[in-house]
Amino acid sequence: MKFFVDTADIDEIRELSETGMLDGVTTNPSLMAKTGRPMLDVLKDICAAVDGPVSAEVTATDSDGMLREGRHLRELADNIAIKVPLTWDGLKACRQLTSEGTMVNVTLCFSANQALLAAKAGATFVSPFVGRLDDLNLNGMDLIEDIRTIYDNYPAFTTEILVASIRNPNHVSEAALIGADVATVPPQVLRQLAQHNLTDKGLAAFLADWEKTGQKIV
Ligand code: E4P
Repeated sequence: MKFFVDTADIDEIRELSETGMLDGVTTNPSLMAKTGRPMLDVLKDICAAVDGPVSAEVTATDSDGMLREGRHLRELADNIAIKVPLTWDGLKACRQLTSEGTMVNVTLCFSANQALLAAKAGATFVSPFVGRLDDLNLNGMDLIEDIRTIYDNYPAFTTEILVASIRNPNHVSEAALIGADVATVPPQVLRQLAQHNLTDKGLAAFLADWEKTGQKIV
């Protein structure tokens, strides 16, 4: 499973990139707004900091506008993936951009039929939002299971399932168990993945015993 980080904070991205665990980045207009910086500058910095796909979202809502913005954004770097919303205009723009060799992430997916359309439009990634479904007392992971089943039914589909709106480490392990291709994870949740109280406790006990020997390995 690939890990993308879901943030536009360049300091976080650089720090997490050093772990060697980062396969890409997703941003959206809300995350961009939080930086307080010009979007194109932020994207250039992010694309230079990671090798994998960096999703940059269009803000036009008509397909011509999305194409105009997408073609502009993709000039920033080779690893830009254009993010378009899961609307008919977004699907139309997706089909055109992928035919031009551009990676496309179709975002704001909340149903299996929407994911089916994204695959038919040739999307590189589809982003189902699990946390926002959970917020409505639905089960976001049921959607991931459904999409996995549908995509596996049609091996000609190449769209990767990018699980988005992740809120906790359980979302990540559940997505991996289902066989999702990618999880885009907020920085604080990504850090939590390595944490376990028994690891901390066990390490402290080992080191205390070792200290008593007075030895050093090197
Ligand atoms: C994904 O690409 C989105 O940017 C993100 O996961 C949305 O998460 P949220 O529902 O926590 O805002």
